[in-house]
Amino acid sequence: MKKIIITIDGYSSCGKSTLAKQLARKLNYTYIDSGAMYRAITLYFIQNNVNWSSHEEVVAALKSIHLDFVINSLTGFGEMYLNEENVEHLIREMVVAEKVSEVAAVKEVREFAVSQQQKMGARKGIVMDGRDIGTVVFPHAELKIFMTADIEIRVQRRFKELFEKNKNITIEEVKKNLELRDYIDANREISPLRKADDAIILDNSHLTHEDQLKLVLQWVEDAIMEH
Ligand code: DC
Repeated sequence: MKKIIITIDGYSSCGKSTLAKQLARKLNYTYIDSGAMYRAITLYFIQNNVNWSSHEEVVAALKSIHLDFVINSLTGFGEMYLNEENVEHLIREMVVAEKVSEVAAVKEVREFAVSQQQKMGARKGIVMDGRDIGTVVFPHAELKIFMTADIEIRVQRRFKELFEKNKNITIEEVKKNLELRDYIDANREISPLRKADDAIILDNSHLTHEDQLKLVLQWVEDAIMEH
C-alpha cells in the first residue's frame, strides 16, 4: 500500500502521541515526537545555564546539541537521546514542561528542530505530532489532523500521567501549566499553533481509543485514495 505523511497538531495533552503511536503500529509507520526535540533542547539549556534570550548563547549552544531517536526494541518506538544520553524520562518532568514553550518560541531553536524534522520525513511512511507539523514542517502532507479536547479532560489525563511519577503534583499546577503552554504556543510570533486550512479536526473528548483509531484509519484510506 502507498505510504503517506500523517501530521497531528494540537493543544498540549490532547492525546496526540497516543493516536500517533496507534497509527504507527497499525500502519507500520515511523512515529516521530517533535515535542521531544524541543523538550531535549530545553533540558540542555537548563542543565547548561544557557540564556535563551541571547542570540549568541543560543547559536553557540545549538552547535553542541546532537539529537537522535533510538528505537527501544521492547516498545518499537524511538526514544529521545541528547548527546548520546537517553533523556526520554527526564524531558517529561515538570521543570522542562515549565520552560519548553518559551524555548520553542526562539527562532533559532525552531529552525534547528524543523530542518531535522524535515530530513526525518524525507521518506514517506511517517506520523509526526507537534504544533506546526501540518503548517510548517510538512505543508504538503497527505493527511493532516488537528486535535482538540475539552480542557478539563486534558488536565485529568495529564494529571494521571504525572501523578504516577510524582505524588506531590497538584491538579491546579497541571492546569496552570497546560493553559500557559497553550497560550504561548498559540500566540508566539514564529509558527504559532494553528489549524492548517486542509487539516481535519478531531475532538477526542468523548471518543474511546478504539473508536478514534477506527475513524482515523478511514481518513488514512481516503487520503491514500485521493493522492
Ligand atoms: O508535544 P509536547 O507537549 O511534548 O511539546 C512540548 C512543547 O514543545 C510544547 O509546549 C510546544 C513545543 N512544540 C512546538 O512548539 N512545536 C512542535 N512541533 C512540537 C512541540
